Amino acid sequence: MRRLFIAGNWKMNMKLDSAKALAEGLKAEAAGVGEVDIAVCPPFVYIPAVAEILAGSNIGYGAQNVYFEKAGAFTGEIETAMLTDFNCKYVILGHSERRHIMGESSELVNKKVHAALAAGLTPIVCVGELLSEREAGVTSQVNRRQFDGSFSGVSAEDMKKCVIAYEPVWAIGTGKVATPEQAQEVHADLRALMTERYGKEVADVVRIQYGGSVKANNAQELLSKPDIDGALVGGASLKVDAFMGIINACRSIQK
Ligand code: 13P
Repeated sequence: MRRLFIAGNWKMNMKLDSAKALAEGLKAEAAGVGEVDIAVCPPFVYIPAVAEILAGSNIGYGAQNVYFEKAGAFTGEIETAMLTDFNCKYVILGHSERRHIMGESSELVNKKVHAALAAGLTPIVCVGELLSEREAGVTSQVNRRQFDGSFSGVSAEDMKKCVIAYEPVWAIGTGKVATPEQAQEVHADLRALMTERYGKEVADVVRIQYGGSVKANNAQELLSKPDIDGALVGGASLKVDAFMGIINACRSIQK
């Protein structure tokens, strides 16, 4: 059985006041939700304020990125111990905006995955194809290559602690959501790959979130698919009502 996991990626979309208001609002509205796991990932600088608000609540929180090295001369970077200092539980790694805008390779993502696991953080590792790759018929190859590169050297025990997020790049922030069938096809392919690499016992417990224009009105249909175990939400996680709409639409779904 896999518990559904709905996470909000706030990206670079707020200031301190709105981050705090969003955390306060979610804390109040989600207080009675016990059926699904919920988390939010604010920008680094707002983690302390959000942590203070969400401490002791049923909403976990984490970061949108982390560096793989320990303390040292790495100007502008944040290490895992800085996140655990604020009791972060999650860290998003290999988001397509980092892969494609910042030029992160799967090799770099892999180093970050190892660092996160060593620090006791749960990595949410993103994979996803570009529109041109989908149109060229290489969707499976791209996602499999990103999976293999990102999880290289990760043990079966550690794999169980990870979350995967399938985020087709063409569906992010575009309003162009993958159909439930398109998403399910990739999720099933990733689970099949995980079975090949780690065996069925591991593949059965690892949650694969879908991300890309998830809204309250499409979440239930997507998450009802057998291999879609949650959502990584951008735009619709920035308003309490919109994010709660997604959570409430999925509360009764069992995996
Ligand atoms: P949107 O929900 O805004 O499409 O963003 C998805 C995403 O990138 C989450 O990480």
